[in-house]
This record gives sequence, C-alpha cells and structure tokens, in this order.
Amino acid sequence: MARGAFERLRAAAPTISVGVLTADLAHRGDEVAVLERAGVPLVHFDVMDGRFAPMMTIGPRVVGAVATSLLKDVHLMIEEPLAHLDDFVQAGADVVTVHVEACRHPHRALQALGAMTNANDPGRGIVRGLALNPGTALAAVGPLLDEIDLLLVLAVNPGWGGQRFIAATAGRLAEARRMIASCGRDVLLGVDGGVKRDNVAAIAAMGVDVVVTGSAVFDGAAAEENARAMLSALRSAA
Ligand code: DX5
Ligand code: ZN
Repeated sequence: MARGAFERLRAAAPTISVGVLTADLAHRGDEVAVLERAGVPLVHFDVMDGRFAPMMTIGPRVVGAVATSLLKDVHLMIEEPLAHLDDFVQAGADVVTVHVEACRHPHRALQALGAMTNANDPGRGIVRGLALNPGTALAAVGPLLDEIDLLLVLAVNPGWGGQRFIAATAGRLAEARRMIASCGRDVLLGVDGGVKRDNVAAIAAMGVDVVVTGSAVFDGAAAEENARAMLSALRSAA
C-alpha cells in the first residue's frame, strides 16, 4: 500500500527539506533533479506575497510545473492562505504549511486543508503544517495541535534565504517538543532557516524531524554534494 506522505516523513526523520528559493529557478527542473540524485525526500517551495513576507516569489503554477518524485513541501508566507489552499493542493503539494500569524481563522484553514485530497495520489493524504515566525509565542499553537501534522518553527524572519539562525530558536524548539509530547498526537517538528553545515549537527541534537535548508545546498556549485553532506550530518548527529 502506498504510504501516506506523513508516514514517509516520519520514517525518513530526521531529514531535510531543501528550499529552492536560492536555486536557479530558470533551470528548476535540473535543480530538483539534483535533489532526487542526492536522496533528499522533500523539496521546499517558499511562497511569498510581498505582504506577509517582504518578497514576492512563486505561485501555484510554478509549484505545479515541477515534475518530481520528491514530496512537494509548500511553505505559504501569504496573507489569508485559506482562499489559495486548493490551488496549491491541485499543484501537487504534499505538505502545506500556513502561518498562524497570517490566518484570521487558523483552525478553519487547517480543517479545510484536512478535507482536501492529494492531487498526486489520494492515498498520500496532505501533511498539514503550521509555521510560527521567530517573534510569535509558542502558546499560539496550543489550540491548534489537534489540527496539525507538522509544527514548523522559523529560525529566521520570513523573506530571504541565507540569513543567520536566531539563537533563541533552540529554546523554542525545546518548548515545542514538550507541547507535542503532551498533546497525545504524532506531530512532526520542523525548523526553517539559517541551517548550514556549521550548525546542522547542533540543530540535529535539538530533536527536530525536518530541517528546511536552502542556501547551504544551492549556494555555490556543488549542490548535490552539499545536499548529501547536510543529510548525512543531520542523520549522524541525531
Ligand atoms: C525564509 C524561508 C526559508 C529560507 C531557508 O523566509 O521560509 O525556507 O528560504 O533558506 P536558508 O536555508 O538559506 O536560510
Ligand atoms: Zn520556508
């Protein structure tokens, strides 16, 4: 039986989801093929609307144009994502993460997502993610833990790749782990932003299941080697 997207992520954890924000989007197919060769299970699409996050990036047509065997991990840094969820699900998203700060009704957005069908394969399901900016208290997640499959803690302010990992994130990840442990459900813990070769081992020790990393892989020429190095460093340190 085809395993659902959540079960595949749980089995692969700890793993990396590689962001293509700093990849060569004019050759995005080749860039994603690099990740397939490197054994990366997830490709991370940073969707920004220029309002919730200062940059404007890509939309559902670009996400849908990428043909890949990887799971599509869509990070929505957009205001009021509820109206756009179906577009990204139809574009083949396997993981859809909304920001608690961007939803007037986060519970409703997550419930709507939970009622949608994976366009790649109905059996995969859709992993429902909730993301928090570095300045948002973890308490905001408390009422929503029953509606999520992934909690994504941002270690940078949304907008750009290549930023530094905010040190206070370590304490936030510990608090998030405690909240997940006491909620009685299996929820993946993710961290996003500022993860490089020089800190991935320390971050692995923080007990995260999914590490989103972009510029550490795509900056420079050796993307496949960078991806392999990040993946093995994460797995050996966990
Ligand atoms: C930031 C994005 C992150 C970022 C990660 O707004 O959500 O996914 O692109 O890139 P690096 O790994 O370069 O910090
Ligand atoms: Zn992201």
